[in-house]
Amino acid sequence: MATVVLAYSGGLDTSVCIRWLQEHYAMDVVTLTIDLGHEPDLPAIQRKAKQTGAREAYVVDARDLFIDHFIWPALKAGAVYENAYYLATALGRPLIAKLLVDVAREEGAEAVAHGSTGKGNDQVRFDVSVHALAPELQVIAPVREWGLTRDQEEAYAKEHGIPVPEGSRQPYSLDQNLWGRSIESGPLEDPWVEPPEDAYEWTVAPENAPDTPAYVEIAFEEGIPVSLNGQEKNGVDLIQELNDLGGDHGVGRVDHVENRVVGIKSREIYECPAGTILFKAHEALEQMTLARDQSHFKRVVAEEISRLVYGGLWFSTLNRDLMAFVDSTQRSVSGTVRVKLYRGQATVVGRQSPYSLYREDLATYLSGDAFDHRAAEGFVKIWGLSTQVQARQQLHGEDTPLLPQAKRLEAKDAEDA
Ligand code: ARG
Repeated sequence: MATVVLAYSGGLDTSVCIRWLQEHYAMDVVTLTIDLGHEPDLPAIQRKAKQTGAREAYVVDARDLFIDHFIWPALKAGAVYENAYYLATALGRPLIAKLLVDVAREEGAEAVAHGSTGKGNDQVRFDVSVHALAPELQVIAPVREWGLTRDQEEAYAKEHGIPVPEGSRQPYSLDQNLWGRSIESGPLEDPWVEPPEDAYEWTVAPENAPDTPAYVEIAFEEGIPVSLNGQEKNGVDLIQELNDLGGDHGVGRVDHVENRVVGIKSREIYECPAGTILFKAHEALEQMTLARDQSHFKRVVAEEISRLVYGGLWFSTLNRDLMAFVDSTQRSVSGTVRVKLYRGQATVVGRQSPYSLYREDLATYLSGDAFDHRAAEGFVKIWGLSTQVQARQQLHGEDTPLLPQAKRLEAKDAEDA
């Protein structure tokens, strides 16, 4: 019998998928559950997979792979989708796809499967990533193909003896891993409605956060955070501690109307305390250690990378090339940043680096100023020369359309007088 490897979360969707793959594709089902942080009871998920009919149920702790090969690269790149989303789910999918492919090869499987719907981004990320890594594998998405509603799924589950957790029916659609939590649907579908407090789990409301700020010092080596308050940390602990501390201070809530790959806009709530703090700290260190042109061009690259990651193109050669650029920029991004956490805000309040390009003797307005003021005169003359020539030859002192009201205001004043 042919084998399919199913990405299995233990929830209703993917549990129903096990039976459906057996019935409709007559395939042997092997499940793969991947721990990217914040997983509930993994042994229980494994048992449930077996009970539901999986031939084999694998569980893989992929937290370190996730951090080293996805989270840190995204942090170094500064990749934030639409200025709001730190890409937690989007970064996890290509890793799950890679592990599905690995297991499929070990098991001699012909196909892999996932529980994504036909409306979301995750189907895109799974399908495209699997096809990039293993063009010979078939990808099956039972929920997309089948198009069942929640009620129909529950009926199918009951019929097939699959346990449906009673009373645990969430009004929200959730996804979470170490890097962030996403909350959709239910009351959030009306973009005018303020997210109810029960949508949030990792963060307190800023108005209920402590009245005393917390400070955290984060040390980076070549763009990667390595310690907190002077104590060396591995990635998992560092991110977890910042999630906890940031969450306590109401840091990392995002309310965003997002452009999905499939063309619809959706209202998304995110909680990403660690991501928020680390992105701010990393950016502050880059501001100090990257040259102006490097820093400006890197923003363009970051924007492009965020679109690639969001759109499921992690394994594209363009992403690989852009990431090589990003890595090269991080040679000098070492140092320490101090961040203040207070009532929903993470604010950088100090930074230092052995590679700092900031020179107090050049920046100062006090004595000891080493800046050559006379040289500025000539520089400014030449910097503005083409603008000046154009003004004289072509514009003849006409009004600038950039400030169309200036004249009218003057005329009105004159009338009033
Ligand atoms: N909108 C986010 C993304 O596309 C999160 C999706 C996660 N899924 C969910 N059911 N909340 O990456």
